[in-house]
Amino acid sequence: MAYRNLEIGNRGAVRTITVNRPDKLNALNRETLNELTLAFAQAAHDDAVRVVVLTGAGEKAFVAGADIGEMSDLSPAQAQAFSRTGQRLMTAIERLGKPVLARVQGFALGGGMELAMACHLRIASEKAKFGQPEINLGLIPGFGGTQRLLRLAGRAATLELCLTGASIDATRARELGVVNRVVAPEALDDAVDTLADQLAHAAPLAAAGILDAVLLGGEAPIDQGLEFETQGFALAFATEDMREGTSAFLQKRKPAFKGR
Ligand code: COA
Repeated sequence: MAYRNLEIGNRGAVRTITVNRPDKLNALNRETLNELTLAFAQAAHDDAVRVVVLTGAGEKAFVAGADIGEMSDLSPAQAQAFSRTGQRLMTAIERLGKPVLARVQGFALGGGMELAMACHLRIASEKAKFGQPEINLGLIPGFGGTQRLLRLAGRAATLELCLTGASIDATRARELGVVNRVVAPEALDDAVDTLADQLAHAAPLAAAGILDAVLLGGEAPIDQGLEFETQGFALAFATEDMREGTSAFLQKRKPAFKGR
């Protein structure tokens, strides 16, 4: 399917989704949100896709936020629907069941930071900038920023970033636990490809089980989280991949996981 605001690429089992509105710093208008929702649903349902890389077109921005022009004249009811559309997309990414890796080369502000935080892992260029500047527009974050930043970085950092609207660099974002790795701009593509390839060769059902257990564990009391982990662990023993992984280890060869 052809998208007006996205580019889709495939390299082996790695699908790359690129937000492609560089003249607007890849800002998220409604059409782009809808296209992202479709593109992630397609990636979820395509068994050939084992990992998704999400990025923005051009050097300057990952995504510089929700589209301010489009937002400026929304009614409260329309704003509620816009927020829900964005939140549903972020939740769908988080619950995709396959690892999603954000490649952040430039501005990840507002909805862009929220989009990056909905991904499971984030690799940033030293040139990347993160922030929740909504307060400067008289707004609050609306695509999950107050909630996901809180869970990633804690209350003090979340309140500081959301109340000041200030941007932080990639190193500070890593210190806060928002970013997994920071690399030189020229090393970004290699770092992303290497990690994506590693994830693409991992056992897909085990990856899904880990994603589920960690996401649930962030919200549930520990006894529930531990029970969920036990059930996931037991379920893995019903998979061909578990037989393949353990046999390959014992036979001193590399496993070939099939997601069965
Ligand atoms: N929504 C809509 N358009 C946006 C946008 C956004 N969130 N962010 C950038 N753009 C547009 C600009 O309006 C400009 O369009 P134009 O050339 O038609 O005027 C274009 O992208 C380039 O941006 P510009 O502001 O000229 O680049 P800059 O290098 O001077 O500044 C930023 C870069 C990121 C600091 C600045 O664009 C910015 O502050 N953007 C808004 C960030 C924000 O508040 N995001 C949260 C929204 S809830």
